[in-house]
Amino acid sequence: MALAGTGVFAEILDGEVYRYYADGEWRSSASGKSVAIVNPTTRKTQYRVQACTQEEVNKVMDAAKVAQKAWARTPLWKRAELLHKAAAILKEHKAPIAECLVKEIAKPAKDAVSEVVRSGDLVSYTAEEGVRILGEGKLLVSDSFPGNERNKYCLSSKIPLGVVLAIPPFNYPVNLAVSKIGPALIAGNALVLKPPTQGAVAALHMVHCFHLAGFPKGLISCVTGKGSEIGDFLTMHPGVNCISFTGGDTGIAISKKAGMVPLQMELGGKDACIVLEDADLDLVAGNIVKGGFSYSGQRCTAVKVVLIMESIADAVVQKVNAKLAKLKVGPPEDDSDITPVVTESSANFIEGLVMDAKEKGATFCQEYRREGNLIWPLLLDHVRPDMRIAWEEPFGPVLPVIRINSVEEGIHHCNASNFGLQGCIFTRDINKAILISDAMETGTVQINSAPARGPDHFPFQGLKDSGIGSQGITNSINMMTKVKSTVINLPSPSYTMG
Ligand code: G3H
Repeated sequence: MALAGTGVFAEILDGEVYRYYADGEWRSSASGKSVAIVNPTTRKTQYRVQACTQEEVNKVMDAAKVAQKAWARTPLWKRAELLHKAAAILKEHKAPIAECLVKEIAKPAKDAVSEVVRSGDLVSYTAEEGVRILGEGKLLVSDSFPGNERNKYCLSSKIPLGVVLAIPPFNYPVNLAVSKIGPALIAGNALVLKPPTQGAVAALHMVHCFHLAGFPKGLISCVTGKGSEIGDFLTMHPGVNCISFTGGDTGIAISKKAGMVPLQMELGGKDACIVLEDADLDLVAGNIVKGGFSYSGQRCTAVKVVLIMESIADAVVQKVNAKLAKLKVGPPEDDSDITPVVTESSANFIEGLVMDAKEKGATFCQEYRREGNLIWPLLLDHVRPDMRIAWEEPFGPVLPVIRINSVEEGIHHCNASNFGLQGCIFTRDINKAILISDAMETGTVQINSAPARGPDHFPFQGLKDSGIGSQGITNSINMMTKVKSTVINLPSPSYTMG
């Protein structure tokens, strides 16, 4: 049943092309042009979105600036109330939004619904957390610093940055959009969203839920279009006061071009899974399959290299292979475990890594199989450091196994990566796990579980090329504010009376 673009969502569609959202209205671009969104499964155009112009971006920025001033003066509890309302509307409309995720990014049907529900929960939690942490400030007194009397009282609290530009990636176009929108809004900022092309229609439906909740016009906008036309224009726009980006190495280019604005960046990873001899091998196999192959490996936190002690490698590889044989491969509508990867160029890139490993002598645990964008799950054993797949992120259902002879070897491989998002260790020895965790140069280390961003209030950050700053609900709210102080200067120290 086609639900997207119908019912309450009918106004976001103009004929065949989805509208963009500006100044509280759904509009068609003056460019008269649109961008096609290709369904990864059928490889045919599924949807079209407006190709916005730079002039339209300018107008959105002007409206955001005006709306933000009034929003910053809106009581915190009222901001929270609207966010709660948006969260409820989002959950109510999970079906049409999930349908877009299935068609645009081939997300398995159940996972698509979970992404929307998780997003509603994230927005509600953000509203609550905002009320908790933004309702508090600090009081400092001067006499703790040498040479001062107690005659200065400093009151500090958090104020918004202004206009936040949010750029989420294709793999969570709704969830990683609201993880930026929620914190920005509760903190009193305006928000301009540039969704990924693949995932844009799901994002537009999500934005409509915020519209239905009744946020002031101009406060939230969503512009769609070609990166070549509006990408740099947006990220270098003087009206932007903060950029929150999740995606690939485009983020490195953005960070070089962006002006003097705070940046929050999450740019992928090569998450290592280090398996020690005393690990629970069934737990390991389950986590390798879930961590490496869910959403066909298209997660920044996917397990992307297994570093396993030689003595247990055969047993674990066998267990993993048995589980891989049971995965359902096919279209997302059938709720398959492995679905087509997002674009043909992604599939070609993955194939390039596989062929390189083949030429260099990796052991193929399954036959390599591809039909269009659909790639069957593949475990590559006996991978060596001279193979590209030992270092590069396939973002697909292909996982390399490197056999190691010492923990140090595993740590060395993990730390030699230019990425440093997450990593995981499997062992029953908690003391050893803590030592290894400290030695791993990654933003998070999971002990006895595959890497994951959630729960969404946990801090989430990457070292090296994996990113700038820390996310997670609390950290994102803090990141999208700055500290403002008011100092009360007394004519004499306050403790002189009495
Ligand atoms: O793709 C990057 C996401 O932040 C990963 O989120 O761990 O919930 O799949 P996840």
